[in-house]
Amino acid sequence: MANSDKKYSAVITAVGMYMPEKVLDNAFFESIVDTSDEWIMTRTGIKERRMLENGATSDMATKAALDLLKSKNMSPEELDLIIIASVTPDMFFPSTACLVQGNIGAKNAWGFDMNAACCSFLFALNTGAQFVQSGTCKKVMVIGADKMTSITDYTDRNNCILFGDGASAILLEPSEDFSLGLQDAILRVDGDGRENLYMKGGGSLNPPTHETVDKKMHYIYQNGKAVFKVAVKGMADVSYEIMQKNNLTADDVKFLVPHQANLRIIDATAKRMGVGSEKVMINIHKYGNTTSCTIPSCLTEYYRDGKIKKGDKLVLAAFGAGYTWGSTYLVWAID
Ligand code: UT7
Repeated sequence: MANSDKKYSAVITAVGMYMPEKVLDNAFFESIVDTSDEWIMTRTGIKERRMLENGATSDMATKAALDLLKSKNMSPEELDLIIIASVTPDMFFPSTACLVQGNIGAKNAWGFDMNAACCSFLFALNTGAQFVQSGTCKKVMVIGADKMTSITDYTDRNNCILFGDGASAILLEPSEDFSLGLQDAILRVDGDGRENLYMKGGGSLNPPTHETVDKKMHYIYQNGKAVFKVAVKGMADVSYEIMQKNNLTADDVKFLVPHQANLRIIDATAKRMGVGSEKVMINIHKYGNTTSCTIPSCLTEYYRDGKIKKGDKLVLAAFGAGYTWGSTYLVWAID
């Protein structure tokens, strides 16, 4: 939607998160596969991740939603729309959005799930913003939630060290101040990337059978090297492009908020944008790749630590399976 067509600007007015208590550190992986803390730290930047021992994605999403509502002192009945960004819904149907709506008692809200792999949150954020910008909805909650440990093969050293569980939520509301909130987005997909990162089984192509389970088709498959190359270029280019499009210099940008898949991909993106490492939000060392939860959890933690203030310019960027990739330029609106 062009700025001139918007009735309102969509601004983030509250944040929330939930991270499970159980920690899987690199020593745990040293004990189950042929790897080392040194390899994992230097190749990925990951030290620890969280694992939800009991429950599902909706349980984490519910806790993140309740955390947000509590911090905003807001009733769930005020919500108009709930969008869940996730690749690990509780089940095919009903949607996780329905489950969360029921759990928190958001009886006036409708909702749906959105899956764009590691770009799910970015795509959901921009989708939710459309409803706010058009004046259709006043309070939209977007939750990035994934239980990645439920689709991780703990005998595959290439992948098991990467992923963790978590959920984080943001609230979008309308503002008449167009200098705040979401300013611009570049969102892309390329289906030619489908075979480098996917879950082969469980869907309509390969419905669950004993054979698909025996072949471990219900776990993440990733050609890490192939994805790494395109992710570095994709995320760096799209972050640079949104700066150019909006006449932003590196000095203008308070923080790059990158998807947390690999510290080396994040460093390459920051380098291309010309921003120093002090201007990059990082929580990959604590949580690994939590897929849909990486960007909102960074926003929540940095805001709660007092590191972002009203008026700060942020560039969000992600790359994921599909391929999907994109960036979003927003101005932080909470004091
Ligand atoms: O979030 C969605 C998008 N996903 C991504 O952005 C992930 C993109 N890919 C990556 O982040 C990286 O490719 C990985 C972290 C997955 C792998 O790092 P890499 O530097 O690309 O390693 P590699 O795949 O080139 O493997 C190098 C070596 C191999 O051994 P050989 O063939 O050289 O003998 C691997 O077998 O490292 C070996 N290796 C490991 N060694 C110790 C792979 N995994 C491990 C491990 N511990 N956990």
